[in-house]
Amino acid sequence: MSATQKVPFLTQSDGRTIPQIGLGIYGPDDAGTADAVSTAIEVGYRMIDTAALYQNEGGVGEGIRRSGLPREELYVTTKLADDSHGYDSALAAFDASLRRLGLEYVDLYLIHWPLPGVDRYVETWKAFERILADGRAKSIGVSNFQPRHLERLAAETTVLPVSNQIELHPGFPNDAMRRYDSDHGILTVAWSPLGRGRVFGNPVLDGIADKHGKTIAQVVLRWHVQLGNVVIPKSVTRRRLIENLDVFDFALDAEDMAEIASLENGVRTGDDPDLYNG
Ligand SMILES: NC(=O)c1ccc[n+]([C@@H]2O[C@H](COP(=O)([O-])OP(=O)(O)OC[C@H]3O[C@@H](n4cnc5c(N)ncnc54)[C@H](OP(=O)(O)O)[C@@H]3O)[C@@H](O)[C@H]2O)c1
Repeated sequence: MSATQKVPFLTQSDGRTIPQIGLGIYGPDDAGTADAVSTAIEVGYRMIDTAALYQNEGGVGEGIRRSGLPREELYVTTKLADDSHGYDSALAAFDASLRRLGLEYVDLYLIHWPLPGVDRYVETWKAFERILADGRAKSIGVSNFQPRHLERLAAETTVLPVSNQIELHPGFPNDAMRRYDSDHGILTVAWSPLGRGRVFGNPVLDGIADKHGKTIAQVVLRWHVQLGNVVIPKSVTRRRLIENLDVFDFALDAEDMAEIASLENGVRTGDDPDLYNG
């Protein structure tokens, strides 16, 4: 069975499905991104996560074209940059993202950060509803939203986000936000799922990895899968891309899950969404 067949799909609240593991591609320039994306697709990835902020949407488009895979077999996410909040700015920014990607639609368009101090995410979401209605994003969602930001969207707009992409890894499991998402029919997508590399060398994870004959990356990604997260590990390394998909032939038991839960230290690798304003 190929890796593609093994990656399960989760169903969003709008009825569409998303592969549970995809490639996050923050970091490389266009050339490096195109190489990583085409390799990832070759080894079985069917979901790619980028953002206007990453300045590599062109590379994502190039990697997809190089792969030769029919567009409808791929799930592509991009995100609105912080300087483009507002109704008209969001519409223009979306057009620019599609142009850079060289695609006619994205599967998922996200507000990258709520920017509570700017306070234009409700107006921005109304532009997202328009993009959705036009069919140019098949689904719309958010990233780094806290409960109060989601409550405002629910009260002041029509469409609910299908997913919320948040920081989530063993050191920062973000349990309350994950539970809120789940209670409201929103899928949680875990960013920096490997803690940007901080999980490596951890003796507890090393012990669990030994027990299952797996690597630390595989144990952590399996933990995400068992929590019900969508997960987007980043790698530009072919061997690691393959390794990170190969997590569907073993299961963590309750003891393993409890040991991983004990690694919480509350330390983020990125910004606090309540404080970050672009
Ligand atoms: N929405 C947001 O605000 C937000 C914020 C941050 C990130 N993200 C998204 O989340 C994605 C992933 O997060 P991230 O890039 O911060 O960090 P990450 O996926 O937690 O970690 C990536 C690092 O781990 C290494 N790595 C990957 N697989 C490995 C393996 N099997 N063994 C050893 N090392 C491995 C990578 O190295 P190599 O590449 O050299 O192999 C890279 O240095 C991003 O690319 C982006 O798409 C979103």
